[in-house]
Amino acid sequence: MRGQLHGEIFEGLVVAHKLAHVQFSARKIAARRTLSIMPRFRRQFLFATITIAAILPSISAAQSAKPTMKAIVMHEYGGPEVLKYEEVPRPEPKDNEVLVRMIATGVNPVDALIRSGKYAKFFGTTLPLVPGYDIAGIVEKTGTKITKLKAGDPIYAYVMWGGGYAAYAVATEGEAAAKPKSITFVEAAGVPLAALTAWQALIDTAKLSAGQTVLIHGGSGGVGSFAIQIAKARGAKVIATASTPNQDLLKQLGSDVAIDYTKTKFEDVAKDVDVVLDSVGKDTLARSYGVVKKGGFIATLVAEPDQAELDKHGIRGAPISVKPNSDELMEITKLIEEKKIKPVVSQVLPLTEAVKAQEQAATHHTRGKIVLKVADEPK
Ligand SMILES: NC(=O)c1ccc[n+]([C@@H]2O[C@H](COP(=O)([O-])OP(=O)(O)OC[C@H]3O[C@@H](n4cnc5c(N)ncnc54)[C@H](OP(=O)(O)O)[C@@H]3O)[C@@H](O)[C@H]2O)c1
Repeated sequence: MRGQLHGEIFEGLVVAHKLAHVQFSARKIAARRTLSIMPRFRRQFLFATITIAAILPSISAAQSAKPTMKAIVMHEYGGPEVLKYEEVPRPEPKDNEVLVRMIATGVNPVDALIRSGKYAKFFGTTLPLVPGYDIAGIVEKTGTKITKLKAGDPIYAYVMWGGGYAAYAVATEGEAAAKPKSITFVEAAGVPLAALTAWQALIDTAKLSAGQTVLIHGGSGGVGSFAIQIAKARGAKVIATASTPNQDLLKQLGSDVAIDYTKTKFEDVAKDVDVVLDSVGKDTLARSYGVVKKGGFIATLVAEPDQAELDKHGIRGAPISVKPNSDELMEITKLIEEKKIKPVVSQVLPLTEAVKAQEQAATHHTRGKIVLKVADEPK
């Protein structure tokens, strides 16, 4: 992942300020030397000239200074304390990017994983880094190769390289789609990564079709809450799991069967299913092979399925790695507009509370989504 700040721009900004200050000081010293030997009217003229000369470099430095913004920045990997709220250079969109004035950004469990640095090589992350892979906001500026989006468009996106925990972020057209009109920017920010994961697991990979039965583990979480609704919109029968306080949510989202995993073994209820969506792994994945009918499919978000187990049960399986996809995000927009999908946002925090938001996301017991609000919803 990229998620890198434009450090060289920031340094450039500091240098520009220093240069203006040096020029200003040199002029002041030279003026003091000549003042005492000058007639009064020439002094006054010189004062005016010096004032203008002193102001000019500051104005031109300010004009050439790159714009800055507030953002949550990581300069090192580690615990939540590495997240700092700072003034940083505003990103400049490349030819194939749009600059987005951010209203809200979604928080995902992966944010804390990236922050830890444990998988820095795997994700390709470099420091400093602004986290945030779900963005919702308004297009401020477009790169020269942008053909579909224009300034003023309300959009949302899963941005592969992060940068969402900020007042401005960049996205490519391949990552973005029109924000559904029927929901707020805060709700929209909870959609892209989680909904695309559910879509790519169920539709692209497991090829879930009408009339089939799907078992969705973690149905009350970010991915699970979209997976239940996408599966229902597809005409499938849904069995979903969650803990006791989230049984009501499983039902509200459309689950035909809700299982409380703290009280009931899912394999006692779910049998001969066509598809399993596993967002839990370990023991949950190990016990899932046996509930899939021959020819069925296990899509897992957190592990590599065990080929020997797949073979033993005559089923197939695949790990999922979500990718940005504007066409699929547009399909999701349509389902939201048709009221077939409703994002569940259980917590909204200001950007300054990114630490608290990431700590909650890392519990793996979030109801729906957590969203950081960056700016007020436009009127
Ligand atoms: N591979 C990818 O591309 C990809 C993409 C997105 C997410 N992920 C990963 O997938 C996982 C889920 O993501 P998410 O955003 O949906 O997380 P989340 O919002 O934290 O949701 C986790 C869900 O799991 C449930 N849960 C926890 N322990 C469980 C158990 N033992 N049995 C059944 N359900 C259990 C929780 O329900 P209760 O709160 O009721 O316990 C909750 O519904 C995370 O590890 C995330 O990093 C991977």
